[in-house]
Amino acid sequence: MGTLQKLLFSSSFFSLLFLLSVVHGGHHHRHSHHFNFRPNKLFVFGDSYADTGNTPKSLASSWKIPYGITFPGKPAGRFSDGRVLTDYLARFIGVKSPIPYRLRNFAVNNLKYGMNFAYGGTGVFDTLFPGPNMTTQIDFFRQLINDKVYNTTDLLSSVALVTLSGNDYSTYIARTGSTQALQGFITKVVNKYTVDLKRIKGLGVKKIAVCGLQPLGCLPSSTFASSFQRCNGADNKGVSFHNLLLKQKVAKLNKQTKDSSFLILDLYSAFMTILKNKGKHPGDSKFENPLKPCCIGVSTEYSCGNVDENGAKKYTVCDNPEAAFFWDRVHPTQQGWRSVYRALQATLKKL
Ligand SMILES: *[C@@H]1O[C@H](CO)[C@@H](O)[C@H](O)[C@H]1NC(C)=O
Ligand SMILES: *[C@@H]1O[C@H](CO)[C@@H](O)[C@H](O)[C@H]1NC(C)=O
Repeated sequence: MGTLQKLLFSSSFFSLLFLLSVVHGGHHHRHSHHFNFRPNKLFVFGDSYADTGNTPKSLASSWKIPYGITFPGKPAGRFSDGRVLTDYLARFIGVKSPIPYRLRNFAVNNLKYGMNFAYGGTGVFDTLFPGPNMTTQIDFFRQLINDKVYNTTDLLSSVALVTLSGNDYSTYIARTGSTQALQGFITKVVNKYTVDLKRIKGLGVKKIAVCGLQPLGCLPSSTFASSFQRCNGADNKGVSFHNLLLKQKVAKLNKQTKDSSFLILDLYSAFMTILKNKGKHPGDSKFENPLKPCCIGVSTEYSCGNVDENGAKKYTVCDNPEAAFFWDRVHPTQQGWRSVYRALQATLKKL
């Protein structure tokens, strides 16, 4: 069963009063490295949007065929056909993609690029998935600092990437069986997220790239109800409320730290820009129907990577993953992430 795909899934966000207008954020700029400081390490916290191999094989679809077919060519723990956001941010900084925390004792020479503590399926609170929540991920990081794996100088030349892609919400809906009081829960999630971000800063990381929530109502898990034709507006209103609160909290954090340490990566605008113009950034491939995923279960009970007892595939894969924005029910393809990364260029330059 594709447990993780099901987790990162919001069935029906309650219609909320707040609706943020979508800011057009798809500026395209040439690759350049104008940092106010020289980062040489990347520390990553969060979920499957950032995980590059922490989640154990026994628990994740990310270790099954056809995940990883584009990069590295076989399943390797990324929830995509290839690279994910972490890899692109590392490229931006000019370092190798940081090693997964799980491999820290096997890749001692690679510790210098930072470390990836993200686990698919997790959230700021405990989710349906048993992976370490964000608090625990930050505890792992703190332990490495206590063990002097990273010192103060290292941290001052480091960037953190933090993703929070909705597992808290899918868990809430699965556990309560309803979207009642979801608005109050969104506030709780964002408040906890803020506490976690402050803690990462408190440990000495110089700059922190904070992901806003992507449009959950446009994920294939939502749009399959309309045969991948329309985003679910009610879901996206909930997302906008989350993002509005996050923006306010992060502005406050930046006032408290003189050097504007926190930067929001507006995944909502980035996804929407690409979905609306079908990914037609200069030089990018065009996504024919950007809402339709490349890898789809043959029926709703199956998802990408599922096989039956005889090993027969219970999913189909498109011919050209480069022409799809979404890979599976909730995750972008490598080409999708590449487009998101391009849409975020203008923001990233402020790092
Ligand atoms: C995070 O996980 C730890 C370890 O399982 C647990 O003790 C803690 O209560 C969790 N924190 C939150 C905020 O859910
Ligand atoms: C911190 O660690 C780096 C190696 O990561 C080392 O080059 C540097 O000298 C250390 N700085 C201090 C103050 O210990």
